[in-house]
Amino acid sequence: MKQRILSGMRPTGKLHLGHLTGALETWVSLQNDYDNHHLIADWHALTTALDRTAELKENTRQMVMDWIACGIDPEQSPIFVQSRIPQHAELHLIFSMLITVPRLERNPAVKEQAKALNIEDKMSYGHLGYPVLQAADILLYKGDLVPVGEDQLPHLEITREIARRFNTLFAPVFPEPEAKITKFGRFPGTDAQRMSKSLNNTILISEKPADLELKLRKCITDPLKARRGDPGRPEVCPIFTYRQKFAPETADQIAADCRSGVLGCAADKKELTEKIAICMQPIWEKRRLYEENPSLIDDILEDGTSRAQAIAKETMAEVREAMKLP
Ligand code: TRP
Repeated sequence: MKQRILSGMRPTGKLHLGHLTGALETWVSLQNDYDNHHLIADWHALTTALDRTAELKENTRQMVMDWIACGIDPEQSPIFVQSRIPQHAELHLIFSMLITVPRLERNPAVKEQAKALNIEDKMSYGHLGYPVLQAADILLYKGDLVPVGEDQLPHLEITREIARRFNTLFAPVFPEPEAKITKFGRFPGTDAQRMSKSLNNTILISEKPADLELKLRKCITDPLKARRGDPGRPEVCPIFTYRQKFAPETADQIAADCRSGVLGCAADKKELTEKIAICMQPIWEKRRLYEENPSLIDDILEDGTSRAQAIAKETMAEVREAMKLP
């Protein structure tokens, strides 16, 4: 029996290269060795997008197209929508009795987010409890492993505590899932800060070739290298990180030529644009197939959701039995 992986993402729309390197490539690499389930966490998105719920449907479609274009096989690994499976809400309610409010308030990930969003004194009850919903997402499918970035570790700890508490109080229904830390945690955007939609520094997976070229052309490089001839520092240059990712076999030579000054940034960028386009071509082509046949995505979500729900129903039957609910 393969171990089960439950991975999840909020539907934020078109994904970028940070998602590709930080999450999707890991998901795809695990696809054959594990029993993978991919959750679209649209209820989680409500914590910060309550004023934009009308975008969730289209954002979901765009995200799923990126997942599939990058190699997630929805037949092998069901893709499903959280809000279409009411058992997530049902288990969340039960789990919400198994954890204290102070414990949730101590969660560093939520604290940081509250600070960043300036909502420390007006966080909703649902927002505070979203790690409990995440615990339900994972445990409903008895996930053994959860691929997450470092920042999500506090949430996973809450999942494990809830599983333990349920198992001791009632019956051993749940595994204690482990984190599978995804590497390449920080992928730089075109301004050298972490690539993030909110910073407006992304390169999309679905970027059109002309926009890819433009974004690379405008991308920051080593600020101390003003012109060709100046010695550059590849280690501070996002363009060089992109090269390590998309054309690693050329990285040593390029680094040497950048340092010595023989290579200028403009020429380097131009050549790299072609290399990236070659890597992305199969992804772009696959994505186009789904863009042109929107009903394919509807079918995939319907199929994935019904397969996931079958598991969710079984788990809830066990939960009710363990708790001796009337
Ligand atoms: N909390 C995750 C995020 O904000 C998304 C998520 C929801 C998730 N449920 C999950 C991730 C279950 C892994 C497993 O990005």
